[in-house]
Amino acid sequence: MNKPFPNNFFWGAATSSHQVEGSQHNDWTEWEAKNATRLAKEAPSRFAKIAPRWEEIKAEATDPANYISGICDDSYTRYSEDIQLVKSLNLNAYRFSLEWSRFEPTPGAWEQTAVDHYRAIIDELRLNNIEPWITLWHRSLPIWADEQGGWENKKTVADYARFVQKIVSEYKDSVRFWMPLNEPEFEIIGGYLGGNYPPQKKSLFAANRAFNNLAEAHRQAFSIIHELRPDAMVGIPHAALAVDGYKNRFLNRKLAQAVSYFTNWKYLNAIQNHTDFIGVQYYTRGTINLTFKLHTTNSAGFPFVEQVDLGFPKSDMGFEINAKGITPYLQECWQRYKKPIVITENGVADKNDTYRAQFITDILIEVEEAIQNGIDIRGYFHWSLLDNFEWDKGFWPRFGLTAIDRTTQNRTVRDSAHVYATIVKNNQL
Ligand code: BGC
Repeated sequence: MNKPFPNNFFWGAATSSHQVEGSQHNDWTEWEAKNATRLAKEAPSRFAKIAPRWEEIKAEATDPANYISGICDDSYTRYSEDIQLVKSLNLNAYRFSLEWSRFEPTPGAWEQTAVDHYRAIIDELRLNNIEPWITLWHRSLPIWADEQGGWENKKTVADYARFVQKIVSEYKDSVRFWMPLNEPEFEIIGGYLGGNYPPQKKSLFAANRAFNNLAEAHRQAFSIIHELRPDAMVGIPHAALAVDGYKNRFLNRKLAQAVSYFTNWKYLNAIQNHTDFIGVQYYTRGTINLTFKLHTTNSAGFPFVEQVDLGFPKSDMGFEINAKGITPYLQECWQRYKKPIVITENGVADKNDTYRAQFITDILIEVEEAIQNGIDIRGYFHWSLLDNFEWDKGFWPRFGLTAIDRTTQNRTVRDSAHVYATIVKNNQL
């Protein structure tokens, strides 16, 4: 094919603390303990129809243990092994998140072991010539922050600013790339509108308060990071939902535009002057069909969006695997904000590794073409380095370039990861 990427392109893989580290104590672990049995019971009604390989996943998905993050991938202690995986795939960047609850189990009292732990990870990445890209918050909160009302309470914004100040002061010399908050729009949709994540609210008022606080938290973090490290690159990892009107019908199209505004652009509009780059996290394209019954949320948590188009393969979670959907999103994002773009997540739940290699290749074809067309795209991070804990769905969706044996914790690199590693090595498709 011979499609080269820019010389300084960042090639990476991504994870988040709660989804890989294990042995956590935060709002999610509390929520899991309370909800595991219910989630196991509800699994057939939630997934049997939409998950194409339901028979294969049924046993796991109906087992309450699937919904407890527990020891998880034990990445907290096995991080050296995981960094070697990153290296073995030829990647020059690793995106991971810091677990706030480990730093500040009680407000204002810093836990030195956490500071040392993440410093060791950063140092080891640097030693291996891997650029650390740090997410400061990826969905899990300290218990006390949750108890005071989480993102609905302005106090959490001030507490978070104190956390950012501490962290960036500690690591600023070794870390240039910072992402304050992962997918705030998903926190709002999942936690405050759809009711499927903690704190499980379904209230427009709560959602609006959380929206404003999450926007303010990002803006403050941006300023704090730049005060401490003026040449920092601060970005927002943001879910990109490609959404079309079914059969291009007028009303479907109008509703698709409205959904797209709320999920794709509303939050970015609120923080656009406080971001150096936009992180695009693309998984799927949804279709809106008004003649269908109005769904409150699909399996990804997006309101009103169905996966109704035929002709595309489906991920294990029932998502349409459609690389082309990223292109209109990249174009619109570039046209609206003219900010550098980094693909901070892209991946597929694919236990048998049937579609992953092709999806990566197809996405990178789109990305390369977008670069040729003048869109400033600086990097690509695959989600995920490891099979991990997929929030309210637990362990059954497998997003990893690397499979994890849950009894032995053995890591096995999947074939698709080798395909990715070769593209990275050649810096071209
Ligand atoms: C999130 C990840 C999640 C992934 C796959 C993104 O929305 O940032 O935490 O695992 O999607 O669903």
